[in-house]
Amino acid sequence: MQVAKKIAAITPSATLAVAAQTKAMKAQGQAVFDLSIGQPDFPTPAFIDAAAKTAIDANQASFYLPATGLPALKKAIATHLATRGGATYDPTQIVVTTGAKFALYSLFSVLLEPGDEVLVPIPAWVSYIEQIKLAGGRPILVPSAATFKVTPAQLEAQRGPATKAVIINSPQNPTGAVYSRAELQAIGDWAVAHGVLLIADDIYRDLIYHDVAYTSLTELSPETVANTVLISGVSKSYAMTGWRIGFAAGPRKLMQAMATFIGHTTGNATAVAQYAALAAYTGDDRTVFQMCDAFEKRLDLVWPRLSQLSGFQLEEKPQGAFYLFPRAIEAAQMTGFSTVDDFAAALLAKTGVAVVPGRAFGMPDHLRISYAASEATLKAALDRMQAFMKKYR
Ligand SMILES: Cc1ncc(COP(=O)(O)O)c(C=O)c1O
Repeated sequence: MQVAKKIAAITPSATLAVAAQTKAMKAQGQAVFDLSIGQPDFPTPAFIDAAAKTAIDANQASFYLPATGLPALKKAIATHLATRGGATYDPTQIVVTTGAKFALYSLFSVLLEPGDEVLVPIPAWVSYIEQIKLAGGRPILVPSAATFKVTPAQLEAQRGPATKAVIINSPQNPTGAVYSRAELQAIGDWAVAHGVLLIADDIYRDLIYHDVAYTSLTELSPETVANTVLISGVSKSYAMTGWRIGFAAGPRKLMQAMATFIGHTTGNATAVAQYAALAAYTGDDRTVFQMCDAFEKRLDLVWPRLSQLSGFQLEEKPQGAFYLFPRAIEAAQMTGFSTVDDFAAALLAKTGVAVVPGRAFGMPDHLRISYAASEATLKAALDRMQAFMKKYR
């Protein structure tokens, strides 16, 4: 039996591979200090769980829903976006999906003709590139500056006749970088001028640290908003990765095409999870901000220690999300490895500290550290990394 070529060309998720290895080590009774995980370590807030239970008891979870989502949830998302300062969307411009992941895949599927290009600023979240390929498009990697952000000049250098869209992810996975209003406006103007669709992946937008002014592409000029598809969801802000609820909001024509695509693929995202998301978007946001404060506190714990660790170079301090993306090739070489991949594998095997090699994000000399872990885990992991560096130097 032959597997289709389009699948053979896809790289399995590196983050899931590390997760499988840490799980196997834990099953063998080994201590693991997991800094590889791309999700909050907090449970879903109790009031959201309660809403889901109520929906089940009221028999609201049994039946199919409209393919693009529960009307009340779409309305709640529109209100939520407006109160956060974003554009005003009509519920017909919103499509609820099985995680933001499927919002992105549906969008690429309805947008791209074979060979169409999508500009992907590097470093980038692991799934953009593979999803674009699966949807028949060509990912074009755009190197970023030391700030991990791209400028219109860098995008323009990669633009060609087949360029259809560009992805801007702010706050960014894997770096925590946040684009300023001026930086976004410049990119927005460039995209509008050249007819390049903007894909704004704002999934970490509520995880913004104190004194950081956040702007979304959906808060800029009407021309920019009309040229943008917003991708977001409840996974990161509300500690709801397992519930699988995301959404896209944008131009009606694209959203209608996505509705057709979703109608024939997943159908509606799980009903009970949509009721939970409804509670999240209409409830008290205190838990979101408490979680964000905790991440910022942990960053303040990890940042100075990692900065002092020999072989690790940190440039810009993250302004949101919960990731650090140090350059670690020197650390690898100091310990006798020629690649960060081998260094990360040895670190896990010898110390139980799990991180994700930067290759998965398009920058092989770096590695990603998630600080969505308890302070005790972070401290123990840093102690072990320090000892590892001393021992092998
Ligand atoms: C940048 C980015 N976009 C989208 C997603 C997808 O989120 P979900 O499918 O859980 O809603 C993730 C998850 O890790 C992410 O990091």
